[in-house]
Amino acid sequence: MPLWNSRFRKPLADSALRFTSSLDFDRVLFHVDIDGSKAHVRMLRKQKIISAADERKIIRGLEHIRKEITNGKLKLDWRNEDIHTAIEERLVKKIGETGRKLHTARSRNDQIALDERLYLREEIAGLIKLIRHCQSVFLSQAEKHRSTIVPGYTHLQRAQPILFAHHLLAYVEMFDRDAERFQDCVGRANRSPLGAAALAGTSLPIDRHHVARQLKMDGVVENSIDAVSDRDVLIECVSACALTMMHVSRFAEEMVLWNSHEFSFARIDDSFATGSSLMPQKKNPDIAELLRGKVGRVYGDLIALLTIMKGLPLAYNRDLQENKEPLFDAVRTTRYSLAIAAELLNHTRFDATRFETELEGDLTLATDLVDYLVAKGISFRRAHSVVGKIVQECLRQSKSLNQLSLSVYKRFSSKFGADVFGLFTPRKSVHAKVSVGGTSGKEVERQLHRWRARMKNVL
Ligand code: ARG
Repeated sequence: MPLWNSRFRKPLADSALRFTSSLDFDRVLFHVDIDGSKAHVRMLRKQKIISAADERKIIRGLEHIRKEITNGKLKLDWRNEDIHTAIEERLVKKIGETGRKLHTARSRNDQIALDERLYLREEIAGLIKLIRHCQSVFLSQAEKHRSTIVPGYTHLQRAQPILFAHHLLAYVEMFDRDAERFQDCVGRANRSPLGAAALAGTSLPIDRHHVARQLKMDGVVENSIDAVSDRDVLIECVSACALTMMHVSRFAEEMVLWNSHEFSFARIDDSFATGSSLMPQKKNPDIAELLRGKVGRVYGDLIALLTIMKGLPLAYNRDLQENKEPLFDAVRTTRYSLAIAAELLNHTRFDATRFETELEGDLTLATDLVDYLVAKGISFRRAHSVVGKIVQECLRQSKSLNQLSLSVYKRFSSKFGADVFGLFTPRKSVHAKVSVGGTSGKEVERQLHRWRARMKNVL
């Protein structure tokens, strides 16, 4: 029997119960639901709303139920409507009438709002750990490739040579902001809505702050209407998941490219690649592709949550129950994607010598020619246009920059001297980018050291 049925003449139709029941998915909240109930019961006793004997009985009962659910002995039946009802009914069955005191001064409206915040706190802690782990795997690869030269791209066109370590460190930075966003979200989420009751608060002498303190939360969500009706912190968390997954998907796409025959840069370990059922020669980067695809689910979850919330009148509405599946899905998908992305990178070897020779005299060094002319007093715009003409000449003669003669260079500008030929190695180009955060060895080493030191503190 539902908790509310005394004012009804008929029981809820089976089909209606099936439709409204959330137990199939909100069962994952059982741990936090019990934690919240225990804190609530302790507060009720401290406030002398229930006796110490009742408190003991209820807490013992709840702990018993926790074990029963954990070891699968208690079958949770969707007919129980939701996890809150399922636990309460089991409690009454176990300890009798006293169990009915658990829900004093509480509504499922503030109960579920608390459960979701406790769930967020726990999951976010796990997500942050995984992000830190990812950062350390990217950092280790970067340290291995601190002098590997690769072409950097814009528009997926070769742009300028860079250090591969520098490229990998860009992801370390992205993940750092992701972790910050989760941290920031938990700062707002970690407040207790309990005691808001259905929406108006209660006339019983509860102590909301005591509940919050027991649950190690930073105070209460003060306005009782706000406490039961908003879910913005969940949306923040899923939005942080979406951004993290967006970063993961960019890495995944690069892995697909690097692993192609055309790039021939990355070699994924056989244990992290798949074959084709038709073409025997194939070795496919399916894990990277799936990672690239998973982000779509998480964006979908975010849009679902925003849409469910849109236009809801205050305070609680049953629509809010619909936020659980997208929330759980986004968190779960982000969790295992981060874990597998780190593993994938750990199982990939990069060919450190793949690009350096190829980039000797390459057109990707054209910007260095511009800088050379600028250093000799020519305006940037003018230098850019002179070098544009030189590039045209190279393309016309099918030559690289180091294959044109000095007299040809001098035709384009009298400022060119024999020293220009010193520019044409990619390593020189890379090490010239000494501006803060640039790709020079010196700057990259500085970044590597900074991150290594930081990782020690956060891991
Ligand atoms: N299962 C519900 C939810 O997730 C719990 C709150 C139900 N409250 C109510 N008044 N029907 O939102």
